[in-house]
Amino acid sequence: MRSPLDFVTSLAAHGDVVRLRLGPLPIHAITHPELVQRVLVDDARHFERGRLFEKAALFFGGGVGTVSGAAHVKQRRILQPAFQRGKVADYTPLVREAVEEAVTSWRPGRVLSVTDVMNDLSFAMLTSTLFTVGFTREASAAVQRSVPVLLRGAMVRTILPEWWTGLPTPGNRRFARAIDEMGRAVDGAIAAYRAAGKDHGDLLSMLLALRDEDGTGLTDRQVHDQVINFAIAGIETTGATLAWFFHELGRNPAAEARVHEELDAVLGGRPPRHEDLPALKYTGRVVMEVLRLYAVWMFTRRALTPVRLGNTVIPAGGEVLYSPYALHHDPRWFPAPDAFDPDRWLPERSADVPKGAFIPFGAGAHQCMGNTYAFMEALVAVAVICQRWRLCPIPGTRIRKTATVDVHPDHLPMTTEPRGGEGGGGAG
Ligand code: HEM
Repeated sequence: MRSPLDFVTSLAAHGDVVRLRLGPLPIHAITHPELVQRVLVDDARHFERGRLFEKAALFFGGGVGTVSGAAHVKQRRILQPAFQRGKVADYTPLVREAVEEAVTSWRPGRVLSVTDVMNDLSFAMLTSTLFTVGFTREASAAVQRSVPVLLRGAMVRTILPEWWTGLPTPGNRRFARAIDEMGRAVDGAIAAYRAAGKDHGDLLSMLLALRDEDGTGLTDRQVHDQVINFAIAGIETTGATLAWFFHELGRNPAAEARVHEELDAVLGGRPPRHEDLPALKYTGRVVMEVLRLYAVWMFTRRALTPVRLGNTVIPAGGEVLYSPYALHHDPRWFPAPDAFDPDRWLPERSADVPKGAFIPFGAGAHQCMGNTYAFMEALVAVAVICQRWRLCPIPGTRIRKTATVDVHPDHLPMTTEPRGGEGGGGAG
């Protein structure tokens, strides 16, 4: 836990499958993309989700992000329509408005806490598209306070022994409070939707309107679990991606200049539309590179039957670990893996990356449901912001990576500077 990222990146040197102990838990780390591909995709039917997800179920309940097997397939089918391409296109103007609204309060020369600003923005984008009414200001604050505590709590519980979680430590009390606080905020939003009784055309309205063949809808508890899943899966992940994007742009002026040039050429100062996004090729490569450099630390799976992976047989019930972060920092697939090099994603240079080596959104049946949506959010947010503002690093500030489940900056103060001088420049 002291140095989780160095730990997971060190494992590949010990083999394709490395047996180790995480606290009391014997676990096999899978370090080769081919084997990761087998666990997540080809042989996925022989695995369930494993210990991390069991711990996350303490607050995720029975939502799509924790269940396995047939229950998972059913939930995915129900929820998928909210993330189809057409829907994501419909969300684009709403996301753009949320970003424009968020930056109206920015003033030149202010120091922003970019991690907080981007998490707030991520939450605003989520509530402007998937849960459009119902979260009061206090409920929003409660959700944002709770998410990092819950993510860290799940990871710590994966690693530490069971008896420890019963102790009245400050961390355990914080975790219990965060579950309560998050739960109350989500219940308030569901009650507001039920009371309004109308279709807001968003994910929460869709969940409330669902009916089985026999006409039975979801219970409040089932809706509650799904909302919590999306809030936890969708806020800090996108928030961290945006924060790292500005961190990298701040310390790579040549990349920043290319992003500005592209935005000016493609958009000519007007707001981005969904159809513009494919033309933001360089900006897209920067997002890809950020997703590579700062991917999720680790996820678990558990074998349902004995499974041979390379020379190792994982016994039934055996836990395995896969780490997008470690795969993305393996010099066999990514030369100079710590270097920020968006052009490694040019088609001619990325063709050799093996299947399973670049998996910021996971792969297979549990691949991120929000992947297309998250990529759209990231592109729209950076397009709106970079048309008007630069975020400049503060000399002498050392930024460290913190891994809970996602990897985010420990802090990231940056100064706002309007592009092109006082009036807000480029985009006007
Ligand atoms: C840059 C942002 C994001 C990253 C890097 C990311 C990453 C991931 C990863 C790696 C998984 C796979 C977990 C596994 O293997 O078990 C996952 C699952 C998931 N993500 Fe994301 N995610 C992001 C944004 C979002 C957003 C915005 C949403 C929704 C609004 C979302 C919803 C989900 C859900 C529901 C799952 C569980 C899918 C399932 O088990 O079927 N994610 N995400």
